[in-house]
Parts: sequence; structure tokens; C-alpha cells
Amino acid sequence: MRREKVAVTQSLTVLVTGGAGYIGSHAVLALQQAGYNVVVLDNLVYGHRELVEEVLKAELIVGDIGDRPLLDQIFSTYAIDAVMHFAAYAYVGESVSTPGKYYRNNVCGTLTLLEAMVDAGIRSMVFSSTCATYGIPHTVPIPEDHPQHPINPYGATKLMVERMLADFDGAHGLKSVCFRYFNAAGADPQARLGEDHNPETHLIPLVLLAAMGRRKSISVFGTDYPTPDGTCIRDYIHVSDLAAAHVLGLDYLLKGGESAQFNLGNGNGFSVRAVIDAAKQVTGREISVVESDRRPGDPPVLVGSSDRARTILGWNPQYADLQTIITHAWNWHQKRHA
Ligand SMILES: NC(=O)c1ccc[n+]([C@@H]2O[C@H](COP(=O)([O-])OP(=O)(O)OC[C@H]3O[C@@H](n4cnc5c(N)ncnc54)[C@H](O)[C@@H]3O)[C@@H](O)[C@H]2O)c1
Repeated sequence: MRREKVAVTQSLTVLVTGGAGYIGSHAVLALQQAGYNVVVLDNLVYGHRELVEEVLKAELIVGDIGDRPLLDQIFSTYAIDAVMHFAAYAYVGESVSTPGKYYRNNVCGTLTLLEAMVDAGIRSMVFSSTCATYGIPHTVPIPEDHPQHPINPYGATKLMVERMLADFDGAHGLKSVCFRYFNAAGADPQARLGEDHNPETHLIPLVLLAAMGRRKSISVFGTDYPTPDGTCIRDYIHVSDLAAAHVLGLDYLLKGGESAQFNLGNGNGFSVRAVIDAAKQVTGREISVVESDRRPGDPPVLVGSSDRARTILGWNPQYADLQTIITHAWNWHQKRHA
């Protein structure tokens, strides 16, 4: 790591935690394109070094958000203006079996980061929250003022951070934008970046891996839901549209905006069967489907209203169409697994 304080030229500098991961790396690209300097902090537990260093050519610090001496060193080395905070564990099932791992990383790690920010005089954070903070919705599309009753530890950790952010605003004037994402999907339209989780649990990459023959089949959990084709409906939002929203959220904060929460979704739900059918069309391949029982805790329909982000941030998603989302993901998967 560089030792001398890096001079800020015209551009502002953003620390992106988890910037070697799926959504974080797309946000780094969007920040660079908007003219920001970026420093990435990622412990590479799930991130990809080469995407940061070779594709994005951004500064990568390999380390943990819970490492207070490292954070102090970063904040005294670089003139950081704001933090975009993606670093977290995000496997819902694992959060149920090992909740301590999730509370320690997502909550304690974030608390350490927030305290270091306050001490360094950094007062702006864009935070990756989730629709999982809502739990089972009683209204669809879900608005931001819907009650938040998460049904798993993962969602609870994100809600706790939202609460901490409110308290850090009250006490220290640390302003935040919390983005509650629905299902992030797709890939950079030029296939420079994309989704590569290990293990993978998200529907679209799983379907595409099945189309590539890298998985035997795709499982459909529940075919008797009260939906038109009996399978669950989810809201898929293109990752580049998410990234664009993050830049808008950051601009909003840096212009003096008050702390706020925004859903980021497509507003359109697609069923599991619709995703599989669209993937068959895009790839031109057969995809073997195995129908299984419902999984506990899966609501039939999860779709968000993102009107607030459109109205306040001027967010206008460019890739709302399912075919486009899957085409971009397919292009990335073919390149990644060539
Ligand atoms: N993918 C989705 O659909 C989705 C939906 C809602 C919310 N989110 C949230 O968005 C964020 C990014 O999700 P993603 O899909 O890109 O996940 P990801 O696993 O690809 O990225 C997370 C990154 O954070 C890093 N990381 C984890 N813990 C860390 C720590 N303690 N210190 C430093 N780095 C650490 C990982 O190595 C990884 O690179 C997460 O906070 C997740 O909870 C994702």
C-alpha cells in the first residue's frame, strides 16, 4: 500500500468495500466512468482479484472491513470522500445454519467500518441492503415504507446495519443511502464483468451453467404457488442498472442529500419458468429441469416498487427486459468459462 497521502485532484475518491465481488465490481466500473477515483477493499473470500486489477485497473487493498488498524491506515493514506459498502456474506441458507458468521461479518464488520469513518471525518456511505429485510410481504409491489420483518439472519444483519446507519446519522451526521436490492442479475453489456459466485445460488447463473453443461439440471422449488404458472415470481434487476443507481445515490449524498432508503428493482416480476424459457431461447440449448418441493420461507411473489429512486435520484433502468438481462449474463458466462 502507498504510504504518502494521495493528493485529491479534481476527482473525489470512493472506497468500495467488496469491490472485487459481483455488484461491487460493476459499481467500480460505473464510478470510474463517472470520473471518480476508486480504492477497493476486499478480503477476496469471494471476490476476484483479476477483475479489479486487470479489468478495472483499480487499486486493490486485500483486507477485511473488520480490521480497524487497516481501515485507519487506508483513511490516513488515501483522501477518501465516501464509502460504498458492498462487503458482506449473502448466503441466506448459510446464515440460518451459522448465524454468528453473518452477525460478525455483516454487523460487527460494518460497525468497525462506521467507527473508523467517523474518526476519519468521512460522512457519506452508500450501503447494499436487501429486499430480504422486508420478510414476507403483505403488499406487492413492495414500497420502502413496508414493515421490515426479516425471516432469516442474513436479512436481520442488513436491517441492523440500516438501524446503525440511522443512529450514526443522528449522533455523528454520517449520511447514508441504503439500497434495498431485489435480485441482481445480468452482466456488464460488454461482458467485461459478470456474476461468478462460488457456490452459486442465484437462478439465472444456475440456469446458464445448466445450459453450458456445467450442471446437470436446474431445480425448480415449488410448482404449486398461487402464481400464473405455479412457480415463484421474482424481480430481476440488471447489475449495470444497480451500479448506475449507486453513482446517483453517491452524487445525491455528496450534494448534501439527507439519509434515505431506496428499493432497486425492475418493478416487473418473472416466474422461475419464465426465466428458464427465456434462457432456452437466448442460449438455443436444452435445459434439464427437476421439479422439487417448495423451500420453507420462499414467498410466492417478491417484486419491489422503485418509484422513489426514479423520482428522487432520477434513476432510469436501461435493461429492464428479461431477454437482455439473460443475454448479457450468457455472453459473460461464455467468456468466463471459455
Ligand atoms: N446479489 C444479489 O442479488 C444481492 C441482493 C441483495 C443484496 N445484495 C448485497 O449486495 C452486496 C454485494 O453482493 P454480491 O452479490 O456482489 O456478493 P459478492 O459475494 O460477489 O461480493 C461481496 C464481496 O465482499 C467481499 N467481502 C465479504 N466480507 C468481507 C469482509 N469482511 N471484508 C472485505 N471484503 C469482504 C467478498 O470477498 C466479495 O468480493 C452484499 O452486501 C449483498 O448482501 C446482493
